[in-house]
Amino acid sequence: MRAQPRPTISVIGTGYLGATHAVCMAELGFEVLGVDIDANRIRQLSAGDTPFYEPGLAALLRSNLEAGRLSFTCSIAAAVDHADVHFVCVGTPQRPDSQAADLRHVDAVISGLIAAGLGPRSLVVGKSTVPVGTTARLAARIAAAAPGAELAWNPEFLREGFAVEDTLHPDRLVFGVTSGGRAEAVLRALYSRMIDASTPVIVTDYATAELVKVAANAFLATKISFINAMSEVCDATGGDVVELADALAHDDRIGPLFLRAGIGYGGGCLPKDVRAFQARARELGVGPALSFLGEVDAVNMRARARAVRLAHELLGGDPMNRAVAVLGAAFKPNSDDIRDSPALDVATALRRDGAHVAVYDPAAAANARDRHPNLHIADSVIGAVAGAEIVLVLTEWSEFRTLDPAALRRHVARPVVIDGRGVLDPDAWRGAGWTYRALGRPPRPATVRHHAPRHLAERPLPERPTSERPTSERHLHQGAGLHVVDKAAH
Ligand code: UGA
Repeated sequence: MRAQPRPTISVIGTGYLGATHAVCMAELGFEVLGVDIDANRIRQLSAGDTPFYEPGLAALLRSNLEAGRLSFTCSIAAAVDHADVHFVCVGTPQRPDSQAADLRHVDAVISGLIAAGLGPRSLVVGKSTVPVGTTARLAARIAAAAPGAELAWNPEFLREGFAVEDTLHPDRLVFGVTSGGRAEAVLRALYSRMIDASTPVIVTDYATAELVKVAANAFLATKISFINAMSEVCDATGGDVVELADALAHDDRIGPLFLRAGIGYGGGCLPKDVRAFQARARELGVGPALSFLGEVDAVNMRARARAVRLAHELLGGDPMNRAVAVLGAAFKPNSDDIRDSPALDVATALRRDGAHVAVYDPAAAANARDRHPNLHIADSVIGAVAGAEIVLVLTEWSEFRTLDPAALRRHVARPVVIDGRGVLDPDAWRGAGWTYRALGRPPRPATVRHHAPRHLAERPLPERPTSERPTSERHLHQGAGLHVVDKAAH
């Protein structure tokens, strides 16, 4: 290894994970080379443009390019020439023919590193989410072809929308290493800033490191599906899932997070990780241990179908030629990621049923337009809701949470709203004359509420300051006259 104690780094794969990791490692003071086979993406990143929406990333990308610590290339050989540590950050999507993870990109990176002459003092660090057993298999490949080079697995837990914050201030670091190697010492040096700030470090074997990641995502998915299952029971009994979740959350062993009922989880991680974990368990002969994850997935997919059924019901059973507005296309706020987006799933189902669907999203409009040419993608909230007979709020952007129901009402044909994320205040919307409906909530409130449920009090980070919204739309937001920007932390 050259240049101790400041190793040179390559980050291979510059998607949501890799681009953020490359930028953040440069921000920590390392010399970083980002590598991707997508020449367009490399051109964009080299010019200081982020290929996706991630708050805070573009500014750090530019400052680190300017500081000369960060550069990008399509050449994996350049990475082998220049760097001591190679982070593998490529995607592991679901295979088209099964529930298992597709590892072709990870394998291609290892082949590329070996073919380019990976040196004996190099360290390869996997960050991609992989099925348990992958690291041991890749380590054997590296040991056979590049003796002396080492492999470690260091799973990443960042959330889209908070990727920079989560990378620079992780809640834990997990190092999957073999005993007696150099990997732990090198990783400790790379992450010394976080470790000095008391970030817990778990040093473990390869299998456990791989499992931590999929177990964490499986647990989060299970929490969301648990509350969505309760929401189904509430629908059958007249209970209110928001008040139920609020009451559950007061038990510290349960806690309030990831108990927001709605149309369920999506994105490029939770859905495919839940499926790949089950597929791997079956291969290992322990399928029954994870068969409950099949139910987690089923509850999640049912949540989307329940939203579509509720829309049908509120349209009198016939969506044909009816004007439907969908607010939200991204799978979550603060992101333009539409992979496995519950919002777009609901929108396309209603479109298939004959409705005229107009979708608006503050960041994901371009992606939605590319992938769903059959949907009308509007440029603003008003553009989407004008003349609508029903409005569905399907991504919990703060731009939608702060909508003023009285102002919005003037633009729709019928004031009917489905709150697909449980983030609107039903009293305010009903008070402004709207029919407010949400999954797992009674059509009319059954009880007198003495306090706002914690979910409604919870505030997200600001995404788009009110002042940046089109002037024609500012009147749509609560506190619009004051141009209030919510600065509360997540
Ligand atoms: C998820 C994990 O949270 C990260 O820790 C992990 O690193 C990442 O996957 C990954 O594997 O790379 P992310 O995909 O960014 O992060 O999304 P989440 O914040 O987990 O949200 C997932 C979905 O659940 C969203 O569609 C969100 O709207 C939904 N959700 C979240 C609910 O329906 N209810 C909730 O209470 C919380």
